[in-house]
Amino acid sequence: MKNNVIMKMMRIMAVGLVMALLSIGTVRSQTGSGTMPQIVNKDGRHALLVDGQPFFMLGGQAHNSSGWPGMLPQVWSAVEAMHANTLEVPVYWEQIEAQPGKFDFSLVDTLLKQGREHKVHLVILWFATWKNGSNHYMPEWMKREAGKYPNITGRNGQPVDSPSPHTQAAMEADAKAFAALMGHLKKADPQHTVIMVQVENEPGSWGSVRDYSVDAQKLFEGPVPVELLKPEVLKALNKPADVKGTWQEVFGDNADEYFHAWSVARYIGYIAAAGKTVNPLPLYVNAALRNPLINTSASTYESGGATDNVIPIWKTAAPAIDLLAPDIYLSGSEQVMKVIELYDRPDNTLFVPETGSSAEYARYIYEVLARGGIGFSPFGIDDNGQGTGEAEIAARLAPVAQEYAMAGPMMRELAKWGFEGKIKSVVEREDHAVQTIDLELWQATVTFSAAGGRTAQANTKPIGKAMVVQLGENEFVLVGALCRFTFKPAGANAGKAWQYLKVEEGHYENGTFKLLRIRNGDETDWGGPRFGAVPVILHTTLVMR
Ligand code: DGJ
Repeated sequence: MKNNVIMKMMRIMAVGLVMALLSIGTVRSQTGSGTMPQIVNKDGRHALLVDGQPFFMLGGQAHNSSGWPGMLPQVWSAVEAMHANTLEVPVYWEQIEAQPGKFDFSLVDTLLKQGREHKVHLVILWFATWKNGSNHYMPEWMKREAGKYPNITGRNGQPVDSPSPHTQAAMEADAKAFAALMGHLKKADPQHTVIMVQVENEPGSWGSVRDYSVDAQKLFEGPVPVELLKPEVLKALNKPADVKGTWQEVFGDNADEYFHAWSVARYIGYIAAAGKTVNPLPLYVNAALRNPLINTSASTYESGGATDNVIPIWKTAAPAIDLLAPDIYLSGSEQVMKVIELYDRPDNTLFVPETGSSAEYARYIYEVLARGGIGFSPFGIDDNGQGTGEAEIAARLAPVAQEYAMAGPMMRELAKWGFEGKIKSVVEREDHAVQTIDLELWQATVTFSAAGGRTAQANTKPIGKAMVVQLGENEFVLVGALCRFTFKPAGANAGKAWQYLKVEEGHYENGTFKLLRIRNGDETDWGGPRFGAVPVILHTTLVMR
């Protein structure tokens, strides 16, 4: 009896202790202190955890020269206009280490302070050895010593405006500066305002597929590194498992490009590892793309960067990089959807760090969410000193801003649903064709139109989009614009009678759906719920009759 009482008391105390620990955990995650942002993987899907929970970056990237204190006010007004929760902003090696070994992080501190004031997370872009394939952000003291920090040499000996990936001194210098930056963030940002860091910017080279300097040529004529000869890597590159030898012997026509990709990736992998050891924030590399639908020569795009054909090389050479991210400026939905598919892999988390801000690009955020991607971010959000004013910025950003206004209050839900594979989406194609979404017991048909009245008018541009979140067998969250949903029973329910039980319009607030109105009558009859130009959220329940 006495033992029972003691046991009971101990149980009560234990429950109390767990509750207390949980409440500390909650407070921590609300203030954002202490929990390291990280990428997690489950069943081939991915999530970016911020404060311990899946987070979707509703991002915007500042123009290249807007990371300076005097330029930031217009950057923040753009961030506000677009309802972004994350700002991608460059920091410049030339500014941070203007004198060798002397680091100045005052601009980084300004960014941290202002990010916190605006309650916006930051993704820091490390503009260093490579910026769009060139060395333009290397400090002056390096640019003045071209012999020590050389550019690559073209096939015919011509100079190429792109740094050599074979220069140990430059690699060490970049790694040292990057590690100093990451160390500074560790000290100055315990609350993790910074949630990811981009290492370099669109690395690779334009104007030459690889470095043809004497030193590089020697390496090129040597054997392919053993890491690339692992059967799984060779398989991913469509090569037989037993192949070995020089770059030319192993990779034939692709040898020049693969050699360059390996060299650039290895260099950046070294820098990333140096930073990650100090501060294990998620790191990524962005890529200038090639057309994913045609096999063109690497001389027609930026060679050596993380284009879709060399992802296995990058993964092998730079394991400290968490993900490779496509900068999407291609036009046409066929190409863009292919890119999104190619960068969404079990070994690669989907993130679009740069894209356009027009309605044609804004539609792809639905696809990124559905695939469990971790963020989306149009480039060049501020007015870049043009003096065009806030109204122009707001008008330019409006297509993305309206999506972010919809998604912002339910960002945590969307990120979680995306991670769990509960979202399906369609984006309107150039032919405006009707599309279907399979939902086990239901099939949703989406037609694209400026869905005002009973007579649907086709959209003039392909900018409609829709997503369905499956909450239960018959329960869905529908989100969309410029489209109409129609449901049809499918699978075991095929051919049966049914009706809408409830179509509730509203929004999410702190994890709860808040009702604005129940849609019935004209707003749901005549073919199903319609979505006008501004995205809305419809919590929709269907019932069999
Ligand atoms: C892609 C680069 O990554 C950006 O820094 C910027 O130069 C844009 N292109 C400009 O379109």
